[in-house]
Amino acid sequence: MRDELLSPDESAEDNEHDHEMEINGLRPTSLKDFVGQSELKEHLEIILGAAKKRNKPPDHLLFAGPPGLGKTTLANIVAQEMGVAIHSTSGPALERAGDLAAILTKLEPGDVLFIDEIHRLSKAVEEVLYPAMEDYQLDIVLGKGPAARSVRLSVAPFTLVAATTRTGLITGPLRDRFGLVARLDYYDSADLNTIVLRSAGIFNIQIEEAGSKEISVRARGTPRIANRLLRRVRDFAEMKADGVIDEGTAKEGLRVFGIDQRGLDKVDRAILNALCQQFSGGPVGLSTLAISVSEPTETVEDVYEPFLIQQGLIMRTPRGRVATQSAWVHLNLEPPVGNKPERQNSPNLLTELDN
Ligand SMILES: Nc1ncnc2c1ncn2[C@@H]1O[C@H](COP(=O)(O)OP(=O)(O)OP(=O)(O)O)[C@@H](O)[C@H]1O
Ligand SMILES: [Mg+2]
Repeated sequence: MRDELLSPDESAEDNEHDHEMEINGLRPTSLKDFVGQSELKEHLEIILGAAKKRNKPPDHLLFAGPPGLGKTTLANIVAQEMGVAIHSTSGPALERAGDLAAILTKLEPGDVLFIDEIHRLSKAVEEVLYPAMEDYQLDIVLGKGPAARSVRLSVAPFTLVAATTRTGLITGPLRDRFGLVARLDYYDSADLNTIVLRSAGIFNIQIEEAGSKEISVRARGTPRIANRLLRRVRDFAEMKADGVIDEGTAKEGLRVFGIDQRGLDKVDRAILNALCQQFSGGPVGLSTLAISVSEPTETVEDVYEPFLIQQGLIMRTPRGRVATQSAWVHLNLEPPVGNKPERQNSPNLLTELDN
């Protein structure tokens, strides 16, 4: 069964009956309120500041990184800081070249066009995007067959802000047309603590520092999850305690919702369990692993695996995914004989031995 609580997907957010206003109200609207990612913020301050001085739209920007780290939030902040409108769409929504042309021709000078999941843009649409990004030109083919002719239209100077969870799937020519390609990193627990306290303030939740810390360290480095855990622990505190989130209430609330000390949820643990027990620690292919936990391969690759790798619990090797020593320790399992730590810690050695 899928545990939606920790899934950083937007869809899971829709499934929850949380008030939409609550979620939107949490989005920081200026760079100043955006917590963490200090290097990226500094770069953006320079780029946006310089553009304002020149009275020109800033260069096109690409934000990459796992779900829930603030890519959409940043796109909106760029528009806010520049004082322009934002038009939002996504790779899968732009099916035909005409869909993109329709949006581009509606842009006012300086506007931000936000394309989410840009790695899912079709080839045909991508080709319309190139001249638009480079020269603010749009080539449209009118008619069909021998009578077809191409017209060139101008579009208003604009800034494309794009987001992706998969930089690897973005073609070279598209990537090269961005003035900044920024990768968002997982947040440290101090930044997440600031985010939790900020959200608690907005929601009017009574929370003690120790309670907030407990939530922050288990939020998988992800602001969206930190906010979601905060809402669940608030529910728990209201139903089972006096409404105040202190250390004990936070711990107990998180335990009830199946989140362990490292912030792993049921699916994370299912992946580790399958890897260690079903496949003796690996190596095993990603799709096989995904099937064994009944999750789409893409979800495992985008949502679960990056965090498990970052935590040093699994490794990618040329032959598949491998459980590290820490994974066995975390699950309280004995690694099988011959599966020595040195061997697990060296993907190259492992490949050699297995070949
Ligand atoms: N740096 C931050 N400071 C405070 N809150 C943040 C920050 N980053 C993200 N958030 C919060 O986390 C939530 C998720 O952020 P956002 O929707 O921008 O993520 P995303 O990277 O676009 O995710 P996805 O890849 O799923 O589209 C937002 O509602 C916002 O409240
Ligand atoms: Mg987003």
